Amino acid sequence: MARRVKSVEQSIRETDEPAHRLKRDLSAWDLVVFGVGVIVGTGIFVLTGTQAATNAGPAVVISFLLAGLTCGLAALCYAELASSVPVAGSAYTFSYATLGELAAWVIGWDLLLELMLGAAVVARGWSAYLAQLLDLPTWMAGDAARPDLAAIAIVLVLGLLLVRGSKLSSRFTGVLVVVKVAVVLLVIVLGAMYVDTANWSPFVPPAEPAPEGEGGVLHQPIVQAFLGLEPTVFGAFGVVAAASVVFFAYIGFDIVATTAEESRNPQRDMPRGILGSLAVCTVLYMAVAAVLTGMVPYGELNTAAPLAEAFENIGITWAARLIALGAVAGITSVILVLMLGQTRVLFAMSRDHLLPPGLARVHPRFGTPWVITGVVTVGVAMLAGFVPLEALSELVSIGTLFAFVVVCLGVLVLRRTKPDLPRAFRTPGVPVIPVLGVAACVWLMINLPLDTWLRFLIWMAVGLVVYASYGRRRSRLVTGAPIGAASRQPPA
Ligand code: ALA
Repeated sequence: MARRVKSVEQSIRETDEPAHRLKRDLSAWDLVVFGVGVIVGTGIFVLTGTQAATNAGPAVVISFLLAGLTCGLAALCYAELASSVPVAGSAYTFSYATLGELAAWVIGWDLLLELMLGAAVVARGWSAYLAQLLDLPTWMAGDAARPDLAAIAIVLVLGLLLVRGSKLSSRFTGVLVVVKVAVVLLVIVLGAMYVDTANWSPFVPPAEPAPEGEGGVLHQPIVQAFLGLEPTVFGAFGVVAAASVVFFAYIGFDIVATTAEESRNPQRDMPRGILGSLAVCTVLYMAVAAVLTGMVPYGELNTAAPLAEAFENIGITWAARLIALGAVAGITSVILVLMLGQTRVLFAMSRDHLLPPGLARVHPRFGTPWVITGVVTVGVAMLAGFVPLEALSELVSIGTLFAFVVVCLGVLVLRRTKPDLPRAFRTPGVPVIPVLGVAACVWLMINLPLDTWLRFLIWMAVGLVVYASYGRRRSRLVTGAPIGAASRQPPA
């Protein structure tokens, strides 16, 4: 079967179909705000402490740097593709134009994992922080609540906001971003006064055997399992293993690319939005990690709210409250933007008829894909409310890393197949940067546990079955149906 590749020109042309046109409303500043809005969340507020305590010690600063550099390589590739194929759907659309329909479907399905599960995991974290901040009863919010009513409520409210329009969502995100960035800066500036440099030594604690009862082989990084190594923590391996976990804290800069179609000047603004938000976050994260491990001996940081507790312990209770408030505000915008990204990817997939086309209808007044937004909202609310999600955040990371690999490959392919396509932003150092990007992402992937890999492979296998039984025959690239028309299934 010939590879089905949808031309870049066709992708761009279709964004102008009246019933499926999204409003071009977002500026470069809106994009950076969206980026920071979705990046800074549970990762920095929780994982910094747990990874310092269990895997990397003060060298968690280096873990953040490694994860940030990996994202930087992928971001340079995202920036090129988003500025040359400015169409909703991000990695999904890029793959359709470069690697073909099957790869595009695989990535779309993979992004479903990243975004829908990610939003649900983060909504659960939000509910836990809210419970702590407001002393809510355990039946209403937090880890023990089933259903988790607070998580369901926040998802429903954000879903309504999304239907009202990207611009409104972006304004709301803007306010939340100001609050959380202010809180992160407060941690850095106030915390710096309480740093005891003795806490930074040893900077990289020597490797030691992993504690018993941590899930055994199934929870060992697959690189260690395959090399037959004894599971260890700390040391150089620990720093890299922590990098693949704190990678979660960077997830989101890629979602900026999913709003390409709503950007006023995507060619110029997409690279600025993607690279700008990533750079801001990398600097903030390394500073927070340095201050936190300087304030508290790393062994004491394995708690649910390490940042707030660090200040509580030195008696600055007002700062601890403010940090909890910042976490709740900050995580709210993460859920919002993850859901937004999800709707845009599904929008692109149903516009291509790989999913039912009726899903892609745009609201006549608000200019948003309201049907899909409703479906995503209900889906995320169910997941967040009822499914135990604690173990699944690594699944979100592996899905994201996989998408990054495909985007880096996409740059290489498009340079060969479309050398003359206008590219407002060109990834520097091709092929070195994309190849390094692939290598770095794969390296982080193989530092994730075996059970995460198994779940990931099962999810992808289910996706292939769905494609074979639905999208493969109904794809508009095959049927030539107009967008949105219910396409009858052609003979096999
Ligand atoms: N980067 C986002 C967070 O840390 C997903 O919550």
